Amino acid sequence: MPAFSASAPGKIILFGEHAVVYGRPAIAAPVGQVKAKAIVTANPKASDGEVHIQAAAIGLDACLDDLPATQPLAAAVRGVLAHLGVKHPPACSLKVTSTIPLAAGLGSGAAVSVAVVRAFSAFLGHPLPDTIVNDLAFEVEKLHHGTPSGIDNTVVTYARPVYFVKGQPIETLQVARPFAVVIGDTGIPSPTKVSVGDVRKAWQANKAQYEAYFDSIHGIVDSARAAMESGAVELLGPLMDANHGILRKLEVSCEALDALTLVARRAGALGAKLCGGGRGGNMVALVAKESAEAVAAALTKAGAVRTIVTEIGK
Ligand code: PMV
Repeated sequence: MPAFSASAPGKIILFGEHAVVYGRPAIAAPVGQVKAKAIVTANPKASDGEVHIQAAAIGLDACLDDLPATQPLAAAVRGVLAHLGVKHPPACSLKVTSTIPLAAGLGSGAAVSVAVVRAFSAFLGHPLPDTIVNDLAFEVEKLHHGTPSGIDNTVVTYARPVYFVKGQPIETLQVARPFAVVIGDTGIPSPTKVSVGDVRKAWQANKAQYEAYFDSIHGIVDSARAAMESGAVELLGPLMDANHGILRKLEVSCEALDALTLVARRAGALGAKLCGGGRGGNMVALVAKESAEAVAAALTKAGAVRTIVTEIGK
């Protein structure tokens, strides 16, 4: 029996993280340089219904039936089984690998879910359409994030730049002039669930102030969209800086993120901000193509454990 495989890219949030949880828009784009991959192969030696799951990166090597409902890979598989009404799948092994760093704001959880849902549904003979893949991955995101906006699963499923508003139909963005960014990883793991939870507590304690922060981010996101659609790429740098400033007020930045964004600007970036949940993970800097390598080198020298240069809208 052939193997069924699927992969899904990482992603970055260019503008609007955190505010997106509160109904404001955000802009995110796929990052094809890193990927999650799922491969499903039939295992005729095992008994019917046995699904073996292996993900070496998280030390997982277990049978589906032995995994709790909260285990994200098991949840993705169970989501497919429930959606298709399959009670006893043919015995098989599911192997998951990923080059997307974990808990770093690059969408590793969503990419793994999307790859698993696609590969497993194809194995069962019913490859699912993107809308369903997206919905099932969103259910798993809830285990990772608590109250996710759904932006990660959406951008990863459709693998295109998106203007995203929670609960609304997906809008892909037409990027008039592709632009380069450098992504720098602080190397500090930071679960999104924690920073999202802390912002929620702060919002509950001071709603007027936080709603005003979210409204400012909304304005930045809409200006960024207009700049991307009209090709006025140079406007995106100051917008990134402004977005980072508000994320600092939300207390989701940290010393390492502030330092790397500063280093990027000093090395010639046109603007920089943290991306994703914050408190660690990655930052992103807008660069002219010719200064991308210099900015990446400066970030590495300042302690970034990994840099990725990617072009948005290509
Ligand atoms: O940390 P990431 O890249 O998974 O992004 C989370 C983005 C937030 O806006 C902070 C949360 C969300 O669900 O949208």
